[in-house]
Amino acid sequence: MDLIIKLTKLKLAWVLCLAVLVPVAYAKLSGSLSVDAIKERLKPMGQVNVIGTDAAAAPTAISGAKTPIQIYEQNCKMCHATGLAGAPKFGNKADWATRISQGLDTLVQTAWDGIRAMPPKGNCIDCTKEDIKVTVEYMIDAVK
Ligand code: HEC
Repeated sequence: MDLIIKLTKLKLAWVLCLAVLVPVAYAKLSGSLSVDAIKERLKPMGQVNVIGTDAAAAPTAISGAKTPIQIYEQNCKMCHATGLAGAPKFGNKADWATRISQGLDTLVQTAWDGIRAMPPKGNCIDCTKEDIKVTVEYMIDAVK
């Protein structure tokens, strides 16, 4: 009897755990917890247009393509700066030598598909293949 109660409690604890973790994980994956998304939500409703700022250029600044450096900083750095889980370290020639010998196209394809501990697209959910390509080029340039 005691065992059954214990097991039920354990199950309940799991369900509670999941009830908290799943929405948080979802929010994280969908990007609604990202600093940018939060900043976006905290923005005042109306924004004053200061004379001289190019209002027409503003939308592209918000939704426009990210630079390779931004993509690297936001998505790849967390693993590639320290070599987490065996990731080739940024700027480390020895780590990259054998990888680069596979050719850029192969590296881009692997980064897109994911490989072992590396998730597809390096977790950059909204990255296009071109985004991944220029970011891989940026990482390769750092060891040239
Ligand atoms: C969660 C950690 C993680 C993130 C985030 C991550 N990587 Fe990786 N990456 C790895 C690991 C680990 C490897 C080595 C995989 C292996 O060969 O076992 C790797 C390998 C690579 C390789 C070499 C692939 C090959 O064919 O040898 C490239 C290129 C690469 N990553 C690019 C990126 C780019 C670009 C991003 C960001 C958009 C990124 N990574 C984000 C962990 C990560």
